[in-house]
Amino acid sequence: MTEAEFESYLGERKGLIDTALERLLLSEAAAPARLLEAMRCAALDGGKRLRPILSLAVADIAGRPLAHLLDVACAIELIRAASLVLDDLPAMDDAAMRRNHPSLHVRFGESTALLAAIALLALAYERIPYSAECCGRPASAGKAVQIVAHATGAQGIVSGQFDDLAFSQTGASDARIAEAYRHKSGDLFCAAALAPAQLAGLSPSEANCLDRYASNVGLAFQITDDLIDADKTGEDAGKITLIASLGMSGAREHAARLLEEAVQALDGFGDAAEPLRFLARTILRRTE
Ligand code: IPE
Ligand code: IPE
Ligand code: MG
Ligand code: MG
Ligand code: MG
Repeated sequence: MTEAEFESYLGERKGLIDTALERLLLSEAAAPARLLEAMRCAALDGGKRLRPILSLAVADIAGRPLAHLLDVACAIELIRAASLVLDDLPAMDDAAMRRNHPSLHVRFGESTALLAAIALLALAYERIPYSAECCGRPASAGKAVQIVAHATGAQGIVSGQFDDLAFSQTGASDARIAEAYRHKSGDLFCAAALAPAQLAGLSPSEANCLDRYASNVGLAFQITDDLIDADKTGEDAGKITLIASLGMSGAREHAARLLEEAVQALDGFGDAAEPLRFLARTILRRTE
């Protein structure tokens, strides 16, 4: 695979996910119009779709058509969208902008933003069993839902977000910050690989390799997010991040090591995992 081939791969996969999300939200047409508009803004206004692209890559590894894992990929992205709506709320990061637009609560008010996030989460869980059906493995739905719920809840994203906010008051060691990063960002990357692995019937050792890949990519991703935010005035002001202790270049080197480790975890997968190797290597180069 060349750089150019990888770029068109990303564009193609993003297009597939955008279309599938668009279709999914159409299925919510009976929801109150203003609520649905808010859900659409949160889920369809931009986004790189990296996590669902990881989910679809599992179809390549499992030798299955992408359609088998499209619903679970969308579920992961809906959770992602909901998590950002909540992250931006005044009680959380109090961010007025998201992806160069006013954030959802600024456009729709806090109550609608909150309800839209909850509705997106519910829709995500509703979709996972469809992938189990498509894979011809309906019994795998329960386990896949458990994986995603665990990654999202009080031992996953919620825990990371909780600690992230608490650290502004208490401060934290590098190890504690890294642990919070693993939860607030890494856990959804892991679920994006592990739920599809479960649905597609990959072996436990294959799932373990994907877990190692995703958790390293997720942590590196959050570090590069902080590097990007550190370049923007006002962003992350007062936040406790790894950059404060490692410095910009130290943080960049740390992320590079994590990404090398991620690529090594794919050694057993051969050509089918080539796009995931490229994906890991582009994380450090990203600018948004
Ligand atoms: C940004 O995530 C926030 C973090 C978890 C660091 P993304 O950069 O993946 O967000 P979008 O969806 O592509 O905007
Ligand atoms: C984590 O981090 C976001 C979530 C896990 C929802 P940030 O708070 O750094 O994300 P941005 O910078 O607002 O996108
Ligand atoms: Mg935050
Ligand atoms: Mg934030
Ligand atoms: Mg950030």
